Amino acid sequence: MKKQVNVAVLVSGGGTNLQALIDFEKAKKLKSGKIVKVISNKVGAYALERAKNAGIEGAVVEKKGKTQAEFEQGLIFELEKCSAEIIVLAGFMSILSKDFTDRYKDRIINVHPSLIPSFCGEGFYGLKVHEKALEYGVKVTGATVHFVNEIPDGGKIIMQKAVSIKGGDTPERLQKRVMEQAEWKILPLSLEKVCKELLKNKN
Ligand code: GAR
Repeated sequence: MKKQVNVAVLVSGGGTNLQALIDFEKAKKLKSGKIVKVISNKVGAYALERAKNAGIEGAVVEKKGKTQAEFEQGLIFELEKCSAEIIVLAGFMSILSKDFTDRYKDRIINVHPSLIPSFCGEGFYGLKVHEKALEYGVKVTGATVHFVNEIPDGGKIIMQKAVSIKGGDTPERLQKRVMEQAEWKILPLSLEKVCKELLKNKN
């Protein structure tokens, strides 16, 4: 009977969400999954350094100069090499095609820095999401972890956590608070939930 599923994490930048996953695993809280590989679409992403420090294999698959299909073939090659069963998008800033999301149906999860369906979809990523939330004047924002389908930020919601907006917030300050209070908490918990569910259905 299999006890853990293989998890691959896709990243593009700093990788603080990846770090939250690594810390969760180190604390022995990721009972149903094992992070086997970190794949970046950017050379030199600091997330790769975090993977290396944790003893996790890293790989780079760049989009530059490739068609979407070629790029995704590169990702699939890396994912198959490590027998990934669950894929986490942790600050992965590249849209995936329907072919790719169908291939890994209910196997890809993403963390988004707002309460979906607010401030999400194409063009809403990273700091921009917080700029838009402040511009609109909402009093509460947060983070969402959801399954990934062909619609950007459109898949089934797994977990959400609300975060209050405070007077004097800048996009940067808000981003930090949303990460600390919401993203770094619900992403690891969601990963464990999804891995546990998958194991239950397999055994
Ligand atoms: C995080 O806030 C994540 O939610 C967001 O980018 C940041 C990556 O930070 N992702 C998106 O906006 C995806 N639509 P990290 O590299 O430090 O985890």
